[in-house]
Amino acid sequence: MKFFRRLTEPLTAKAARGRALMEAAMASAALGACGAGPPSLSQRLCLDQILDSVESLRGNDPHAAVEAFEDFAAALGDNLEAGRVRALSAISGFAGVPDTPQMLLRIAGAMAAAQGPANAKAAAEIAYLAKTLGLPAPAPPADDAKAAKAGAGPRSVIVLGNEKGGTGKSTTVLHLAVYLMAQGHEVGTVDLDGHQGTLSRYIANRRDYAARDACALAVPRHCRIAPSASRDRTAAHAEERTELQAALENLSGCRFILLDTPGSHTNLSRLGLDVADTLITPMNDSFLDLDVLARIDRQRREIVEPSAYGRLVLDENDRRRARGRALIDWIVIRNRLAHIDARNTREMDKLLRLLSGRMGFRLHPGLSERVVFRELFYNGLTLLDPPARGQEDRVGARGPAGHARARHEIEGLIAALGLETATLQ
Ligand SMILES: Nc1ncnc2c1ncn2[C@@H]1O[C@H](COP(=O)(O)OP(=O)(O)OP(=O)(O)O)[C@@H](O)[C@H]1O
Ligand SMILES: [Mg+2]
Repeated sequence: MKFFRRLTEPLTAKAARGRALMEAAMASAALGACGAGPPSLSQRLCLDQILDSVESLRGNDPHAAVEAFEDFAAALGDNLEAGRVRALSAISGFAGVPDTPQMLLRIAGAMAAAQGPANAKAAAEIAYLAKTLGLPAPAPPADDAKAAKAGAGPRSVIVLGNEKGGTGKSTTVLHLAVYLMAQGHEVGTVDLDGHQGTLSRYIANRRDYAARDACALAVPRHCRIAPSASRDRTAAHAEERTELQAALENLSGCRFILLDTPGSHTNLSRLGLDVADTLITPMNDSFLDLDVLARIDRQRREIVEPSAYGRLVLDENDRRRARGRALIDWIVIRNRLAHIDARNTREMDKLLRLLSGRMGFRLHPGLSERVVFRELFYNGLTLLDPPARGQEDRVGARGPAGHARARHEIEGLIAALGLETATLQ
């Protein structure tokens, strides 16, 4: 019996140490995730990565670890003071253990960063954690979204992206470009859907119309990029990347660069995400469009998992986080809202709100449904331009009220983007 106990004691002690370290790590994760409501989907994905990649946590059952995290997170949510005492008491025993305090602090930092923009509550909890572990409080992470919006960089790259076709990406690009040019900004546009070329033709039509009618219409500086014809995938991707870099260089000096992307999964759409400061995803009010972002259990009103496009954006932000790059500021706009089916619209509203918290995007109404859009393309006009000659009095033409409403919608969208767009004129 004694012999048996001598054999098992070191193993039991090792398991207990492993369990205590896992609890300390989960308590640190919960402190880092603190202050932004229930843990978001990106934070859960971040937790999975932590459990997967931190060597000293690998021996633990990941389910038990997630349960421990949820317990600490719930305790912090119920009562911050009591939850903090509980979390820090799980952590304090590791203060003098070589390398462990730094690891625990990194875990908390990663969970805070997974939430996106910096959050003061999490920063305060991380400062308590550092103190308990005998480490200096880390400098608060830069608020990426704010820095980008404050015009910290010389330019903002705004990408219109959604793997669903026909949601209004190209139309929205030109409307935003015209609005920003009217504010006095130099604007560049890139058609990454150069194979279809809708935006390129829209802009060419605008140039032609201005020349034909001798009217002063501002036209953005424009580049069109078509998919590479190379059969070698690696060479094709490299060529497309080089073309995009050349286009961005060509447009250097533009305060805003707007990228239109294809309504499908291509290397060019992915490249667009790679250079985006802001991503605008227009969607129509249909469950089909919602399905592109996430799989939804409609009966239970639950999000099952992110779909291909949603996953692409989350992965891109994970990659940026790992490299310390600014995250994409993601905004989903509900375009062409027709208000014909109030029940449907309300249900979409609820699901989108739920999804927005879980996937880290902001929601905003886009352009309302208007028949006149069909006519604008051929003259390269937007709702912000004066109506085409001869169409001033037509039913459905823009008219003063239509102009005002359209302008209001675009202004609302620009304000929601939070960009520095003060009028330069
Ligand atoms: N708010 C709106 N009201 C009515 N029609 C609209 C609106 N926005 C866009 N449209 C029309 O919807 C169609 C699709 O728009 P657009 O080409 O901008 O979408 P897209 O997302 O770029 O499509 P694709 O994925 O094929 O590139 C066009 O006929 C356009 O005129
Ligand atoms: Mg398009």
